[in-house]
Amino acid sequence: MKNEKPTTELKRGLQIELCDVHKFYNQGQENEVHALKDINLEIDPEEVVCLRGPSGSGKSTLLCLMGCVFGPTSGRAAVGGLQLQRMPDEYLTRHRRETIGFIFQHFNILPRLSVEQNIVLPLLPLGISPSQQKQRARPLMERFGIIHRKKFKASQISGGELQRLAIARALILDPPIILADEPTAHLDSSRSHELMDYLVDLRKDGKTIVLTSHDPLVTEHPVVDRVIDLKDGCIVSGGPPCS
Ligand SMILES: Nc1ncnc2c1ncn2[C@@H]1O[C@H](COP(=O)(O)OP(=O)(O)OP(=O)(O)O)[C@@H](O)[C@H]1O
Ligand SMILES: [Mg+2]
Repeated sequence: MKNEKPTTELKRGLQIELCDVHKFYNQGQENEVHALKDINLEIDPEEVVCLRGPSGSGKSTLLCLMGCVFGPTSGRAAVGGLQLQRMPDEYLTRHRRETIGFIFQHFNILPRLSVEQNIVLPLLPLGISPSQQKQRARPLMERFGIIHRKKFKASQISGGELQRLAIARALILDPPIILADEPTAHLDSSRSHELMDYLVDLRKDGKTIVLTSHDPLVTEHPVVDRVIDLKDGCIVSGGPPCS
């Protein structure tokens, strides 16, 4: 394959398009798991979608697929203009970096690094100079009210500040798609409301947002356009059902 990035025009301008997608973990082995079954799903640009379902129903797997962490085992998946199936890992990684802001479950923040160092982590593979990294981090730290903590280690700041750090880091490359796995799972109700207010702002910025949650504060929030229910790896409502 040549060095340019392969892109595919999105059908009807969709941001995410999944057709007959299956995902197996450990395929063909004793511990095989059929985690996603015949998923058909279309998400428009600037839509806010919440994936809901019992533990083990496939929410995080579906979010990881949308986040280009891996491609489908079978079926067709296009995210932000790139077909993911049979895509070499280096392309998936580059596309993920440019297209996806991931607010990880349990934040996935490195506790020994400072707030600023955590925020610029996604910039490191790009070879941007340290002063440019700081220039890009500053407006985000200001926007999310953590500029006064920029030299603090991530282990030394509050839960709310950590949450805002995770959002700032997800935005550092200004990706069109934001994915958040159980973003309110470790937050009290006032922090959860604050997080949803930030998502409202991100939506105004034109982001497409996909969340997983069982929290009614999220699933019933007016910013959420659509709730998709998953069960045993199948979509049972909010999208075309499993055949
Ligand atoms: N890396 C993996 N290897 C093997 N099986 C996995 C892996 N990750 C998830 N699974 C399995 O795939 C299924 C779907 O898991 P997934 O994490 O997507 O569920 P979930 O809906 O996000 O659950 P939770 O609400 O507990 O976070 C589960 O049966 C899980 O055990
Ligand atoms: Mg999960």
